Amino acid sequence: MKRRRVKGILIFAMLFSLTACSGNTGSTETTEMVDTSESEKKPEIQDTHSNDGRTVVGISMPSQKLERWNRDGHFLKSQFEMEGYEVLVSYGNDLIDEQINGIEDMIKDGVDLLIITPIDATSLTGVLEDAAAANIPVISYDRLILQSPYIDYYISFDNYKVGTLQGEFIRDALDLDNAGDKTYNLEFVGGDPADNNAQFFYGGAYDVLSPYIESGVLNVLSGQTKFFQVATSSWSKDLAKERFEDILNSYYGDVNELTAVCCSNDATALGAEEAIEVDYKGKNNIIITGQDADEPNMKNIVDGKQSMTVYKALSNESVVALALGKAILNGETPGEELIQNSGWDFSCNYDTSSYDTGEKVVASYLLDPIVITAENMKEELVDKGYYTQDEQGYLHPVQ
Ligand code: BGC
Repeated sequence: MKRRRVKGILIFAMLFSLTACSGNTGSTETTEMVDTSESEKKPEIQDTHSNDGRTVVGISMPSQKLERWNRDGHFLKSQFEMEGYEVLVSYGNDLIDEQINGIEDMIKDGVDLLIITPIDATSLTGVLEDAAAANIPVISYDRLILQSPYIDYYISFDNYKVGTLQGEFIRDALDLDNAGDKTYNLEFVGGDPADNNAQFFYGGAYDVLSPYIESGVLNVLSGQTKFFQVATSSWSKDLAKERFEDILNSYYGDVNELTAVCCSNDATALGAEEAIEVDYKGKNNIIITGQDADEPNMKNIVDGKQSMTVYKALSNESVVALALGKAILNGETPGEELIQNSGWDFSCNYDTSSYDTGEKVVASYLLDPIVITAENMKEELVDKGYYTQDEQGYLHPVQ
């Protein structure tokens, strides 16, 4: 393709001059930009770039503070490297400017494809204009980038279904359809308002549970049922904990029993669990939901402090990214047939209507999340090779 050829020449010229300047002998080493809290500490990607004609994939992850993005960064990097691509990974440290600088660096460096998980869905409009001007295709990874037409594809899990699974778990655990005169107390802990996924998760859970709230079977004593009331900035465990301590101390003293907490992910669940440990006076087991199967939460599931998590096989998400990335880099415009031709042993749906950036509806590949409990974790996570289990029964993710 003409577009590729022109850029290829540019990259070659750039690499040639950089190699000449740095005296680089053509090492194929990949630079991983990790935790660049001060811009002057940022490694110069250009200096380690090889000139062996390899195609370069730039990956921008939001943060290393939350367990899953380290795993995503690792899975994506190794998938593409195994296929012979050069890979640059940059972590935004949960700081919007740092993420933008990392992406700008990769654009200047002439990457051939960008895979981006935004920290703030609406902050990448400008940098994506630069990517478009440089003819770099963009895959929005796991979280949708908003307010930009320059997104070629979206890969994620069915985010609404994640929330549905959490809501259904609570509904079924309490047998709400046969509650009779019984009533229960529920609270919500939501995700980051800057993350497009967070409203999908909350919407899925709320749609399942709201009929029972309306009928009075479920009470939310805090009265906080709007997404913006229950949201947790940056998905911070500490902020979730602070909010939950307030809720426990204000509404669940000696009299009121808390039955369930619908938490959107494991970081926020951990915050609620830590608050409950110190500030909850009741003796009942509280039903607590989560998402991600993070290591500390898997321990809490074994120890009976968390009831479930929603697992999203990140390694499979990176497998989809590789297939899609390869096709794009080969000049194809993949559609549903990418799934049919893949031979994947996991389910994935092609969706052309659900995800709108505000500028464009983005073609999406959506994988299926599953519920994990103490009962099925061995079968679903250990036997399938995603986690190992130690002698104490605790699970550890396989990298
Ligand atoms: C991801 C979740 C994750 C959350 C916080 C969301 O966009 O889909 O898996 O728990 O971000 O990192």
